[in-house]
Amino acid sequence: MTQDELKQAVAQAAADHVAEHLPVGAILGVGTGSTANLFIAALAPLKQRLGGAVASSEATRQRLEKLGIPVVDLNAVERLAIYVDGADEIDPGLCMIKGGGGALTREKIVAAVSDTFICIADASKRVPVLGRFPLPVEVIPMAVRQVSRELAALGGTPKLRQDFITDNGNCIIDVHGLHISDPVGLEARLNQIVGVVTNGLFAARGADLLLLGTPAGVQRFRRGAV
Ligand code: A5P
Repeated sequence: MTQDELKQAVAQAAADHVAEHLPVGAILGVGTGSTANLFIAALAPLKQRLGGAVASSEATRQRLEKLGIPVVDLNAVERLAIYVDGADEIDPGLCMIKGGGGALTREKIVAAVSDTFICIADASKRVPVLGRFPLPVEVIPMAVRQVSRELAALGGTPKLRQDFITDNGNCIIDVHGLHISDPVGLEARLNQIVGVVTNGLFAARGADLLLLGTPAGVQRFRRGAV
């Protein structure tokens, strides 16, 4: 199976999960990226059952609206029962690196109000230790050099993502060369750097359920059960 076929399989598995578990009329949290895009397409047959969706990026908002799914402001929502999103890497504890597409801040906000975070990923995303994928960090533009120095002091190699501005008007620094054995600790440490808006470690609030696309079928892993 190709990587796209594996993504398609997990996108469909997530849509089936939503059909089975999300109450009719409830609002769904929807992520960003190529796997999330396939999930959005798989929502088409369910759109009459959805009360609407909260989008984790402008790109996702546009896709949802094109499909006829109403997009709801997160400030109008108390909690979300389910949030479905992809990841750039995911470890056995279901901690993730996210933000390859640059939507990490809104993704982390949506994840924070969600009861169940379902990660959809093809098998290439599952790693024993996070860090091979460069860790995205969203930074206030005037703080890029200051934050880069701090990131280098932590042992990484920071590279400013060229010609890229986030939905929030900020820059992304991708940190290469990290071996992240303590994702919860590093996430908290990075949050302390002045000028950092968000870092792409989703560890304190990782995924609750991983739907992993493998050539043998979609495998399910639950947080705390792996
Ligand atoms: C978007 O900012 C990211 O967090 C994506 O969720 C992540 O990069 C996964 O994207 P793909 O499904 O395209 O690999």
